[in-house]
Amino acid sequence: MTLAIIGGTGLTQIPDLLITGEQSLDTPFGAPSAAYVFGELDGRKLVFLARHGNPHRIPPHKINYRANIWGLQALGVTEIIAVAAVGGIGREMAPAVIAIPDQLIDYSYGREHTYFADDLEQVTHIDFSEPYSPALRARIVAAAEQAGIATVNHGIYGCTQGPRLETPAEIKRMANDGCDLVGMTGMPEAALARELGIAYANVSVVANWAAGVVAGEITMAEIEKNLHQGMNQAIMLLTAVAQA
Ligand code: HPA
Repeated sequence: MTLAIIGGTGLTQIPDLLITGEQSLDTPFGAPSAAYVFGELDGRKLVFLARHGNPHRIPPHKINYRANIWGLQALGVTEIIAVAAVGGIGREMAPAVIAIPDQLIDYSYGREHTYFADDLEQVTHIDFSEPYSPALRARIVAAAEQAGIATVNHGIYGCTQGPRLETPAEIKRMANDGCDLVGMTGMPEAALARELGIAYANVSVVANWAAGVVAGEITMAEIEKNLHQGMNQAIMLLTAVAQA
C-alpha cells in the first residue's frame, strides 16, 4: 500500500517528514499543484502533495484536481489521506477540532470533476454511497484513539466553490441540508480518487465557526490561530496513522 497525504491550507509541508526525494510530473490533464514530495514519516514511506502549491498560491476553484490525483496514481499511490481546513457548522465542530467526515454534499460548480468526460468507450457511473473509504477511515479513527488524539468520527462535509467565505444564509441552508463542516476543496478530489480506484479519506481541521454560527466576522487572524493548533494535532494524527 502506498500512502499519500494531500495537505491543504495550513499544511503546505509536514515538518516531521524526512524528505528523500521530489518529482515534478506532467499529466494528460496538465500540471499538478506542486512537485510530489517523497519522504518517511516515522519510518513509513509516503508521498506528500501541497494542494494549493508550495508556496500556497492556488485558490480552491483553480486547483487542477484531475492532474493532482492522476499524478498520485502514476506514482503507485493506492490510498490518500486528504487534510483540509474547514468551517464548523455542527455543534461538535468547534474551532481546532479534527473531524473524519463520513458523507459529503457537493455545492461546487464549474470544476473539471471527472475523468469520464469524453472519448468514452462506455458511460461510467461510480458508486459513491460511501464517498470516503470506510477501511481507511477506520484506520485513522483507530490510530487517533490509540494515540489519545481527540477526533469527531463522523460528519457531513459540504464543499462550496469559494474563494469567498459563505453568507450566514448559505450556511443556514447547508445546516438544513445536514452539513456539519464546510470547505472548498473536498470535491471533486474525493470523486476523482474513487474514479481511479484509490482509497480516500478526509481529515478536516476546523479553522473557524462558519458564517453566522456565532456573531461577528470571520477574520484571517482567527483562522490562522486555530489552524496552527489544529494542524499540529493533525500532524500528530498522521504520524499515528503512519505508525499503525
Ligand atoms: N468556509 C469554507 N471553507 C473554509 C472555511 C469556511 O468557513 N474555513 C476554512 N475553510
